Amino acid sequence: MVIQTQNALDRFVTKARELFEKETDLDKRWNALAPALAELLADPTVIEASKHWPDCVPADGRAENLLFYEDPDYGFAVNGLTKGAARQGVPSRIHDHAHIYTLYGVLDGHERIERYERLDDGSKPDYAEIRLVSNNMVEPGEIDLVGPYEIHTENTVGERTVAVIIRSEKSGGFNQGRYIPETNQYYESLGPRQTPVKMFPSN
Ligand SMILES: [Fe+2]
Repeated sequence: MVIQTQNALDRFVTKARELFEKETDLDKRWNALAPALAELLADPTVIEASKHWPDCVPADGRAENLLFYEDPDYGFAVNGLTKGAARQGVPSRIHDHAHIYTLYGVLDGHERIERYERLDDGSKPDYAEIRLVSNNMVEPGEIDLVGPYEIHTENTVGERTVAVIIRSEKSGGFNQGRYIPETNQYYESLGPRQTPVKMFPSN
């Protein structure tokens, strides 16, 4: 009889730490981490557990992420993002993640990921011109690598969605860019508050 002592999150963390140890080039590191996240997204125990994760609730101008893990040595974080009934039909803000790298993996449900490019040089305060460059429906198993200062948003399409997000640093403690293309406004505010939750609630 094989007794499995590591859960899917433990296995992901082990792989991520091995990769972080050997790959110091950040672009290469974050591209190379995608297959490990793909395995986590395909794991039936994670999909089953996600049905019990609480809905994330935006409050006081801040989004909410579930925090499953923060690495004590490398600083990367594993987040969950659940969008339930209250989030349907409510457009998400267009934003960047400041200096961090992010792998955004869809675990359950579908949503639309919009990507934007910046057209101005950023020299005018509170001002940004951006242009939509892609708008793709994504499905479970798809992974979007969001590099530093890349502008994007994820919008619900009428069904509960769950994402597992790997960030190079826990967000919430630093400002991120916000973009309002209708008026070319730009501002910054704190990223999602982090709510510690167990990925596998019964463990
Ligand atoms: Fe984002």
